[in-house]
Amino acid sequence: MTIGVFFGSRSPEHDVSIITGEFIISGLKKLNYNVVPIYLDKQGRWFLGEELGKLAFFKDGGDLTKLKPYYLDLENSRGRMVFKQKGLFGQEIEINLAFPAFHGQNGEDGTAPGLFELCDLPYVGCDVASSAIAMDKVLTKELYLAHNILTAKFIAFNAHEFEHNQDIIMKKIAELKYPLFVKPARLGSSIGITKVKDNEGLQNAIEVALHYDGKILAEEGVENLMDVTCAVLGNDEPQASVLQESLFGDDLFSYEDKYLDEGGAQLGNAESKLVIPARLDEGTTRSAQELAKRIFKLFGCSGTARVDFLYDKKEGKMYANEINTMPGTLYHHLWAKSGVEFEDLLQKLIKLAREKYAEKKELTSTFESDILAQANSLKLKQ
Ligand SMILES: Nc1ncnc2c1ncn2[C@@H]1O[C@H](COP(=O)(O)OP(=O)(O)O)[C@@H](O)[C@H]1O
Ligand SMILES: [Mg+2]
Repeated sequence: MTIGVFFGSRSPEHDVSIITGEFIISGLKKLNYNVVPIYLDKQGRWFLGEELGKLAFFKDGGDLTKLKPYYLDLENSRGRMVFKQKGLFGQEIEINLAFPAFHGQNGEDGTAPGLFELCDLPYVGCDVASSAIAMDKVLTKELYLAHNILTAKFIAFNAHEFEHNQDIIMKKIAELKYPLFVKPARLGSSIGITKVKDNEGLQNAIEVALHYDGKILAEEGVENLMDVTCAVLGNDEPQASVLQESLFGDDLFSYEDKYLDEGGAQLGNAESKLVIPARLDEGTTRSAQELAKRIFKLFGCSGTARVDFLYDKKEGKMYANEINTMPGTLYHHLWAKSGVEFEDLLQKLIKLAREKYAEKKELTSTFESDILAQANSLKLKQ
């Protein structure tokens, strides 16, 4: 088995994905897997090769000028993926299992699983639909509402509506209680999110969010906040991790908190910002874990995902916030605290990927009919 680890891509979270990718590559190598690092640069070019599997390469500026990009040989990519370089001495590399490490757009949003599905390749993690819904905070919340899962009250709109019906949208937003959180619908890592304390900052916050995404939501702030996270692992009968409480200084759990300060809380470093297990009583803990598993199943997730909650400590209310189908560095630190070491986590994810693939193979994807023969005789009505 040769595993392709995919990372980078055209996403504001490109750099974080390099970190996750490198982390997975080194873990798989320790387990003696054949690993091919597959890096998509910010322009969408594909590079494959050993050197890309080392963080040092990117730390040193990631000079790609000496590397030749690869293309996907669609003719031969069935049940495997075949990558080739153009030219007489072009290399050819084949993988037969995909391990995506993308964060955000053009990867984590369902596009990567879509490509793997078309190539009939087993892959780690969530499928097209679950990834796509989880990427979109508005669709996520609408699905919660449809299933009576508590989530903060919100208004959603797109750039076109805001341009043409600003008054109506502002009126609707005025019905929400400040402080508000204005967010791009399909981003992550807290990029483009603003906490707005009163009407004054609203316009600017919307413009910031619109800078990143044409779809926006304005959401009521959860007070007395504890940021709670639960990682989930499995396919049909998933397990929940212990809960994590994330601490942050200012208005929100920011990009700096997540990736920069003290090595980054979302990368499992910055221990001073993580409380594991979260300071919640046993009943609240258990029900959050059950809810995380329920949400995982409701979205049709597989492999792993991380379900985040906003907990109002005073009211004792657990608001479902968002789902990440590709948690940074697979949230290895939380799994380690839950008794699943990183190597074990990788092995489990590969096994789950193969099981899901085998199950799908049992389904029929053909349907015999004579519709085409009949179609010959159809005539367009004049
Ligand atoms: N409704 C809210 N109430 C209170 N804090 C919020 C709310 N929404 C977001 N936040 C804060 O902002 C952070 C990032 O928001 P989130 O919706 O998780 O987006 P991202 O996908 O960028 O992580 C949260 O972890 C939390 O600290
Ligand atoms: Mg978040």
